[in-house]
Amino acid sequence: MPNQTVILRIKRQDTPGSRPYWEEFELARKPGMNVTSSLMDIALNPVTRDGKTTTPVVYDSNCLEEVCGSCAMIINGRARMACSALVDELEQPITLEPFTKFPVVRDLAVDRSVLFENLKAVKAWVPLDGTYDLGSGPRMSPNEQDVTYPLSRCISCCCCMEACPQFNEDTGFVGAATISQVRLFNTHPTGKVLKRERLQALMGDGGIQECGYAQNCVEVCPKDIPLTDSISQVGRAVMKQAIADLFGG
Ligand code: SF4
Ligand code: SF4
Ligand code: FES
Repeated sequence: MPNQTVILRIKRQDTPGSRPYWEEFELARKPGMNVTSSLMDIALNPVTRDGKTTTPVVYDSNCLEEVCGSCAMIINGRARMACSALVDELEQPITLEPFTKFPVVRDLAVDRSVLFENLKAVKAWVPLDGTYDLGSGPRMSPNEQDVTYPLSRCISCCCCMEACPQFNEDTGFVGAATISQVRLFNTHPTGKVLKRERLQALMGDGGIQECGYAQNCVEVCPKDIPLTDSISQVGRAVMKQAIADLFGG
């Protein structure tokens, strides 16, 4: 018979600059509980396991179905999404911590804007010329769709960056998600007009050569995106572009 209660150990931090501390909570177990619903239960009755009244734990969430990417945190030592982390499948006590490589806003909520800045730097979009009717766009072959659909499933959660040993302040590495989005938009029939600029943005410090190919990223990606394939493919394209640039191509 499973335990009738759930114990959560949560690393908390009141402000971006304050010292973190730990609190433990014991909740009644409910069928189908996940980490986000546990945090909702704490918010309804924010009392620690030793009876101290505290503040509700702050965390991000939105879709509750692993689509928006906002609820990423470290659960039992692994970067993953809180809404799809089922309590019945987790070892207890369940440990929750904020991401370590992103500034803490409060408790489990972090600022992941570096990913969005990186996506801007590589122009991760399909450019459109004006707002008038351009007619139907070019068709994509089934082979191109097979490549691009899995890449388009990225939810910008940043799990791949948190798990990557190379993603840190010393390297300034852009991380796997951004590289994979370069592959997505460089495969798109209209998006490929910016192919050269995207590849050039991945050259030099912080670019694709920082990747040590440790493959942690692909192991934690909640959407099973073939990140290491993307890194290999984009790495070859960056190399070709660098040679072409050298010879004025
Ligand atoms: S392969 Fe390794 S070094 Fe490269 S992005 Fe993935 S986790 Fe980081
Ligand atoms: S590539 Fe995967 S792990 Fe990385 S941000 Fe996208 S969905 Fe998250
Ligand atoms: S709440 Fe949207 S991915 Fe978890």
